[in-house]
Amino acid sequence: MADDGDRHRQSRLFTDDDGEFDADRAREESLPVEDGEVIDTDDLADHQRYVEGRGIYDERNRVNDLTGKEWKYATKSVIAEGYPPAVQHDLRSEHGGQKPPRLCAELIGRFSKAGDTVLDPFAGVGGTLLGASFCEHEGTGLREAIGFERTKRWIEIYETVLERENEERRERGEPPLAEGDVRHGDCAELIDGVPDDSVDLLLTDVPYWHMDELEQTRNERRTRESKLGSFDGQRDGETAVDADSGPSDGDSTSESSNGDDSSEPTDVDDGSESAEESGEWVTKADWLADMAGKFARFTDAVSPDGHVVVFIGDMYREQSYEFLSADLARTIESTAPLTLAANLIWYDPTKDLHVYGYPFSFVPSMVHQNVLVFRLEDEGESGG
Ligand SMILES: C[S@@+](CC[C@H](N)C(=O)[O-])C[C@H]1O[C@@H](n2cnc3c(N)ncnc32)[C@H](O)[C@@H]1O
Repeated sequence: MADDGDRHRQSRLFTDDDGEFDADRAREESLPVEDGEVIDTDDLADHQRYVEGRGIYDERNRVNDLTGKEWKYATKSVIAEGYPPAVQHDLRSEHGGQKPPRLCAELIGRFSKAGDTVLDPFAGVGGTLLGASFCEHEGTGLREAIGFERTKRWIEIYETVLERENEERRERGEPPLAEGDVRHGDCAELIDGVPDDSVDLLLTDVPYWHMDELEQTRNERRTRESKLGSFDGQRDGETAVDADSGPSDGDSTSESSNGDDSSEPTDVDDGSESAEESGEWVTKADWLADMAGKFARFTDAVSPDGHVVVFIGDMYREQSYEFLSADLARTIESTAPLTLAANLIWYDPTKDLHVYGYPFSFVPSMVHQNVLVFRLEDEGESGG
């Protein structure tokens, strides 16, 4: 085993003209380098191995395939990354709530290992599934991906996206992306077909509770009823209610990828989807209860070392901030055997800004989404 003196001597072999350690030169000479220091591989413990160009990997890692150096970066609580339109973005953007596949691949790399199974019970046009396929060629290895989606159109789009991507990849001489296993139907029923403890990562983007759309529909109905009432010659004691016309929830229902200004559209979504997809919830409490019940059931399918990772944007509505991410996290924690481990922020620096509230009231321009990270409730062992 080399002592410290040896290590220093070894480092001094790779100095530049100023006598400083030259990491590039050391790398060129194929010596393992970590944080600018040459690693003496004889010093590594039995459970450690050096992965060329990536750093030291600890065989005890049950969370992912990342080396210590990569892990350090991956624990950053903010992902500040814009994802330019890619992966047949035009086609996928018909959905309006699509997630960038490369962002999904990044999260899959943080919370699963090669060969693991990833489930997305609200798959949409397949951000998670495509991300899992990318991991084969751009990560540490393929993940098996299963998706549930109740709208046939979104499944068709995912299949067309994959077909077109693979055509383009073939032309470029690149290996094809693996196809995910997409199942059509209601996730509450389809989850019964997934064996307990068989999923390593559940990565999803929940359908939203569209307060404003629902309220608007209700208001329009009341307006219609009220007008009908006066038509019938009845005294309508209730005044017709005008549909609210103000900016509703900040940016959370506008779609910057529609490119309504001059900046380059990015592969951003805000979780918006049609009222049809947004489900049947009338109140926020209904939505929360439904989501929590579903996550409690989904969790049976997740292995004890697994993670549940959920995209959720907050909203601004009627002069106040709707902390949907916090509400959802607490409700899921209180219903499902899950513990909130982190709230990551996906900040998209390229997202278009709109002027809300000026000059009278501060209304946030939402350029971030929350990514809630849960792990299964601890059964006796400490997460460190
Ligand atoms: C926010 S979107 C997910 C978008 C996805 N991340 C992507 O990249 O396309 C939520 C999806 O869940 C679907 N959905 C809602 N309720 C469902 C249910 N009970 N079962 C299956 N899918 C459902 C909606 O049709 C919608 O496509």
